[in-house]
Amino acid sequence: MTDWDMELVHVESAALDALGAANSLETIDAAAAESVGKRSVLAAMQRSLRDVDPDERRRRGALLQASRTRIAQAVATRRGELLAAHRRDQLASDALDLGDVITSARPWALTAGHGGLIPAVQAELEDVFVAMGFTVAEGPEVETDWYNFEALNIPPAHPARGLWDTFYVELGDPETIVLRTHTSPTQVHLMEQAVATGTLPIHSVMPGRCYRRDTPDARHLAVFHQVEGLVVDQNITFADLAGVIETFTRAFFGPDIRSRLRPGYFPFTEPSAEFEITCTICRGAGCRTCSQTGWIELGGCGMMDPAVFDAVGIDPERWSGFAFGFGIDRCAQMRAGIADLRALTENDVRFLEQF
Ligand code: DAH
Repeated sequence: MTDWDMELVHVESAALDALGAANSLETIDAAAAESVGKRSVLAAMQRSLRDVDPDERRRRGALLQASRTRIAQAVATRRGELLAAHRRDQLASDALDLGDVITSARPWALTAGHGGLIPAVQAELEDVFVAMGFTVAEGPEVETDWYNFEALNIPPAHPARGLWDTFYVELGDPETIVLRTHTSPTQVHLMEQAVATGTLPIHSVMPGRCYRRDTPDARHLAVFHQVEGLVVDQNITFADLAGVIETFTRAFFGPDIRSRLRPGYFPFTEPSAEFEITCTICRGAGCRTCSQTGWIELGGCGMMDPAVFDAVGIDPERWSGFAFGFGIDRCAQMRAGIADLRALTENDVRFLEQF
């Protein structure tokens, strides 16, 4: 072997080492250029053939060509490997990471649901009244005009009907079947039953869903909940009513929330009052939720109107009583500090999860 031959062996093995060490498509291309490109040692050796005699030039030319072929093969092999690896990486990074999907899906699929805020508040309200000696009753959500209005001293075409924007059900004669606009008709059912079974007195609360053709806003929903209260007994006075309202407010909202009764009008009670509590959103300072008044109206109350006793056959000379009705959703809103009641119907999990 001549020195030239030795150099060729050395150059080829250095090139093959460099190609083998290339670990990316960029480095293999650079290594290939370095070993066989115009400025490579191999190219210089090729050029040097000009200076040797023809036989030796032919011999060296063949050796150089064989060397170039082996290097080219090594480039192709390594390039193929790197390309395959590159494609694998790309596929892996483009792939939907099922691991992530499954992990993030797991809480959704496996976390047990929980009751909503309104049923929880309703249960708590019932507890407060049960502790005060009331029983709990329920009535139908679809009512006849008589239960929802007439028996409550609101005859057909009475202007007070304007207080309740009513959804009518297409059943029977027009505007005779309604979605109840309040829980007050359940009072009527309860009094009828008590009269029929001879089980007066009554001390009951009646929670349930109500419907009004109202445009929802921060304090109103078209489908909402009320709890009705009814006491029919002997020698019942307005002081008993005020005491029940005050006791309820303290028990449910805590001692820092004040309640007040303001003169009001309802056809089924006389006298009537509106029942308000301090707005818990602004603590009485005035805000959007309470229309800057500092007070939130929860509902109404009053002494049973003798006309209602007449409608159900209770003797107003012997019995007296009071009734009240207020919004469960409002109570929930004031307890949980929800500025806008519509959040309850939007099904945003970030909101619902808080209760
Ligand atoms: N039913 C009334 C309403 O929906 C609230 C109410 C007022 C209920 C006075 C009563 C009552 O029982 O005595 O606005």
